[in-house]
Amino acid sequence: MMRPELIFDQQITDCFSSYCRQNHISKAVIIADTNTQVFCLPLLNSDFPVITVPAGEPFKDLKTLESIFHRFIELKVNRQTVIVNLGGGVVSDIGGFAASVYQRGIPYINIPTTLLAMVDAAIGGKTGVDFLHYKNYLGAFNLPQAVMISDLFLQTLPAEELKSAWAEILKTGTICDAGILELIRKDAPLIDIIKATATCKDQLVTRDFKDENERQLLNFGHTIGHAFESYRLSIAQPVMHGIAVARGMLYETRLAVKLGHLQPDVAEHIIRLVKEKMSLEELSVEEFAGLRPFLSGDKKNEDSSITFSLPVEIGRGIYGVRLPLSEV
Ligand SMILES: NC(=O)c1ccc[n+]([C@@H]2O[C@H](COP(=O)([O-])OP(=O)(O)OC[C@H]3O[C@@H](n4cnc5c(N)ncnc54)[C@H](O)[C@@H]3O)[C@@H](O)[C@H]2O)c1
Repeated sequence: MMRPELIFDQQITDCFSSYCRQNHISKAVIIADTNTQVFCLPLLNSDFPVITVPAGEPFKDLKTLESIFHRFIELKVNRQTVIVNLGGGVVSDIGGFAASVYQRGIPYINIPTTLLAMVDAAIGGKTGVDFLHYKNYLGAFNLPQAVMISDLFLQTLPAEELKSAWAEILKTGTICDAGILELIRKDAPLIDIIKATATCKDQLVTRDFKDENERQLLNFGHTIGHAFESYRLSIAQPVMHGIAVARGMLYETRLAVKLGHLQPDVAEHIIRLVKEKMSLEELSVEEFAGLRPFLSGDKKNEDSSITFSLPVEIGRGIYGVRLPLSEV
């Protein structure tokens, strides 16, 4: 497995052009969405051709993928071409998948433009599209050549996208790296927090590329979070992914205490931090009852038991904790 180069550089224009020069990239195609084409593409100042896809999760599908392949053919994309995914997680997922299967695989680079993609989606080589109503059901594990991260892109990102992404930072810090939470406590510059979180994920991925063991730690908050997301979708009140994950973290932290894995005072510290950073309340009894039917639909589960990743202290966790549905 070739580990991708993680490059942190605010001067993204120079960074991109010098990367291309040093790596002798003369042929590249940029994939952007309708927003990143307007807000982010000018910062690259590049002459490479651009494929623009519609923005948003509903377009992370086979139809958009097919349209990308048509454009690849028009642009005579081949194995000497490098695909540059300029966007949030939707663009890096679909562009990474397109690069993974086109002509049995061509190289690609991620230039994440959302906070979520900088600390999570653009790192780790999970690529794919949604199929029917199943999220990320078609895809491939395939690492990018490089990930170039500049917080300059965040200046145009809508505030709610920024806030939602904090859940993934808090999650990674709580379960994998106490240093991240320490940076948050010290009010460190955002780029330092991004760097620590992206590096932590990259290291986990290096140890467990195919998500068979340790990488599953990153599912902390997601078991309840996904169920909450589906529940809210079912009552036509969709909630942002990060908000759902943060609410999941509150519940799963309490579960860790109940199962004897986590000291109550440490749990209170985690809960306070998540509530403060995400301006959240815990799930109400009614909400919790509402999401129960959605818990068993989580694709990470086998039989009728539910699998959790839980913190055992700040910066350390366990994965594969299985509980029968009836006990949750
Ligand atoms: N592959 C992985 O490991 C992984 C991990 C986590 C999430 N994901 C996937 O990531 C996706 C979510 O990613 P996301 O939150 O980045 O969403 P997104 O890609 O939909 O971006 C959110 C919105 O912000 C816009 N945008 C992006 N950058 C901008 C900028 N700099 N300025 C202004 N607008 C900008 C986009 O056009 C979009 O409308 C989901 O599909 C999820 O499944 C993948």
